Amino acid sequence: MNVLIIGASRGIGFELARQHHEAGDTVYASARGQNGIARLKDLGVNTLVVNTADALGCSGLSWGIDGTRFDRIWHVAGVFGPRTAGVEPPVQQDFDLVMHTNVLGFMRLVPQYFDALAQGGRIGVLSSKMGSMGLRASPSGWTYRASKAALNSTVKDAALVLGARGIVAAFHPGWVQTDMGGTGAEIAVDRSVSDLRRTLDALKPSDTGGYFNHDGQTLAW
Ligand SMILES: NC(=O)c1ccc[n+]([C@@H]2O[C@H](COP(=O)([O-])OP(=O)(O)OC[C@H]3O[C@@H](n4cnc5c(N)ncnc54)[C@H](OP(=O)(O)O)[C@@H]3O)[C@@H](O)[C@H]2O)c1
Repeated sequence: MNVLIIGASRGIGFELARQHHEAGDTVYASARGQNGIARLKDLGVNTLVVNTADALGCSGLSWGIDGTRFDRIWHVAGVFGPRTAGVEPPVQQDFDLVMHTNVLGFMRLVPQYFDALAQGGRIGVLSSKMGSMGLRASPSGWTYRASKAALNSTVKDAALVLGARGIVAAFHPGWVQTDMGGTGAEIAVDRSVSDLRRTLDALKPSDTGGYFNHDGQTLAW
């Protein structure tokens, strides 16, 4: 399979690149800095520079992949932003960074993903259960929550446009031991990623536009 991963310098994205490469897939993986590119080159995968937080940083994807068609695309890049407990207003710079990185980046890239998707290909978008309104029991990190709720909305729209050409779905990866999740998180990154890969593989055409836990359970919006 050909696999594209956006946001693969570390954490879940890097582990996706590692597992897909190990499985014999042809992997194109992006980072935005030299350290991430070097790590990915050491892994032996093709590298791309993509920054989801600015227009220019998203524009290079098409020429970077040079006509390659992908069976799997993983949109992973994300930031948490201010670690608030209640309804403390974020400063505008923090709000803009989180929304630009987590929402606008996907909106800019999704037409390029559609152009690059093989017939019947599948797009996995790393959202978070923190974006769910149905499951909400705490307001902590409300800027991040708002960004993932907005991202979920754009995934639904993307599914309506993609139609029967493929599948696009939002995923909660679990609370994962990465820089974002912290060392006290519930599950190891290799377990989260093997679950995510299996769950995306198992989705049916009617699941497109859905919101899933890493283990395949449907999540409430
Ligand atoms: N870990 C968890 O418990 C958890 C739970 C729910 C959802 N998620 C979601 O899963 C995804 C991956 O999380 P993670 O735990 O692997 O986080 P992480 O360890 O903090 O890694 C974040 C990744 O996103 C990239 N990134 C950040 N801003 C970017 C930008 N403007 N352009 C391109 N790439 C950018 C980072 O690249 P740099 O190295 O360049 O910063 C890095 O590769 C995120 O969308 C996150 O919201 C994680």
